Amino acid sequence: MTGTDDRLQPADGPAGAEAGAAPAPACTLVIFGAGGDLTKRLLMPALYNLSTSKLLDDKFRVIGVDRGQADTGAWTHALTETMQSFTKDKTSEFHTPKIDEAAWTWVTDRLQYQQGDFSQQEVFAEIGRAVGGGSAIFYLAVGARFFGTVVDGLGKAGLLKQDDGVFRRVIIEKPFGADLPSAQALNAQILTQADESQYYRIDHFLGKETVQSIMAVRFANGMFEPTWRREYIDHVQITAAETVGVEARGSFYEPTGALRDMVPNHLFTLLSMVAMEPPNSFDAEDVREEKAKLVEAIRPMAPDDAVRGQYGAGQEAGHDVPGYRQEPGVAPDSHTETYVALKVSIENWRWAGVPFYLRTGKRLRGRQTEISIHYKSAPYRMFRDTPVDKTTPNVVRLLMDPDQGLETQFDAKVPGPQMRLGRVATSMRYKDYFEERPNVGYETLLYDCMIGDTTLFQRADAIEASWRVVQPVLESWGRGEGSVEPYAAGSQGPAGADALLERDGRSWLALPE
Ligand code: BG6
Repeated sequence: MTGTDDRLQPADGPAGAEAGAAPAPACTLVIFGAGGDLTKRLLMPALYNLSTSKLLDDKFRVIGVDRGQADTGAWTHALTETMQSFTKDKTSEFHTPKIDEAAWTWVTDRLQYQQGDFSQQEVFAEIGRAVGGGSAIFYLAVGARFFGTVVDGLGKAGLLKQDDGVFRRVIIEKPFGADLPSAQALNAQILTQADESQYYRIDHFLGKETVQSIMAVRFANGMFEPTWRREYIDHVQITAAETVGVEARGSFYEPTGALRDMVPNHLFTLLSMVAMEPPNSFDAEDVREEKAKLVEAIRPMAPDDAVRGQYGAGQEAGHDVPGYRQEPGVAPDSHTETYVALKVSIENWRWAGVPFYLRTGKRLRGRQTEISIHYKSAPYRMFRDTPVDKTTPNVVRLLMDPDQGLETQFDAKVPGPQMRLGRVATSMRYKDYFEERPNVGYETLLYDCMIGDTTLFQRADAIEASWRVVQPVLESWGRGEGSVEPYAAGSQGPAGADALLERDGRSWLALPE
């Protein structure tokens, strides 16, 4: 992301690669976890999209590191097959009717596979020889337990030393830590090997165009921001509802659960984008400072303000689906939550007294990521002598995925002799205004790392502040307090989530069918 005034015009190339943007400086991208899902499903399509929009330097190269016995030919072949499969799978994150042979060959010509076990120091010496003296990005697309090991290996091999005109950067995937102490320990460990400015902690929600657009909606328009505060807003709801189950990720998900998987990272990212103060500019440090300040202003949660649930068997899109405990890699008596609903409070001048309700879960009735802003009711007095018995609060919905747009809901007069009110909505979809560009969310993030723009990456202090907020809940659940409520697959989630809002006299927006 650059700080330019792009005005969201349709542009050539993938999202994030602004029209007229220059190719990123030459570098080698070293991917740890080259044989993994993330590389196949997201990183390679993102590199392909960057190649079609000519945003990579001719000298750009990729070195894939993994344990699996393979060579460059076999790795390239496997990646090509996966890319081809996307043309047939409309449900994949990257769907395209046809792969542009020239653009994909441009990428595959630059691939090199390096077999190696990154718990052994020798592999880093080999990577060093392959990288040579140029700039490099080390992408940690590996299990979180390896983050520290890989960074140590890179540091000890001298691969994180930067010289004039040569950068060395590390992209770290989530989850960054499993709680506050482990996040603090990981930050301390990696900062012994390189400077904070060399670390790019990724949250792929920030690669989504619709999430970046929250800043444009708020700060490029005169009509939203003046009312975006406690004087006018009753509460805010943030939802990331999924219809998929845990899929083949049972062994990752079992010790993780919905809270760690989604809240301190993705949902707090949405929360900070919607609630932060206007930054002085779109410069990385200005934006990151405001986001960090916002997270620091969230009060550490009371365990009573969190509800957790786990899906049982049910129906999804007309098919029977198993419950979480029957999924592969999941214990038959598992207590891991697949759903969480939370109430959080921000203790600053703008938001004091305005609750933010967050929910996320798997195997829910509909898929939608959105933020809804619920305004306070208008005064009723002038409707007293009319058939109107109540006014309904306005709602502004920022829709992120799969519906992408903005909706406002308000009351209008029903035509006729009497004053009666009917609920109406105006609805905007980005695709009706702007050309949809191929985007898996990682294009902007990779490009930004190459050009050294940290705006969309998580700073150490903000990550620790996020864990600090949820730490009391993690500790309470760790002591076995509170129960995991069952909910049927294909439902709206556990009853306790409704009760969380009902006790405040509010209710959730319904999930889509
Ligand atoms: C990932 C989580 O970070 O985000 C997954 O590990 C989740 O469990 C996913 O499904 C949701 O991302 P998206 O982009 O599909 O909304």
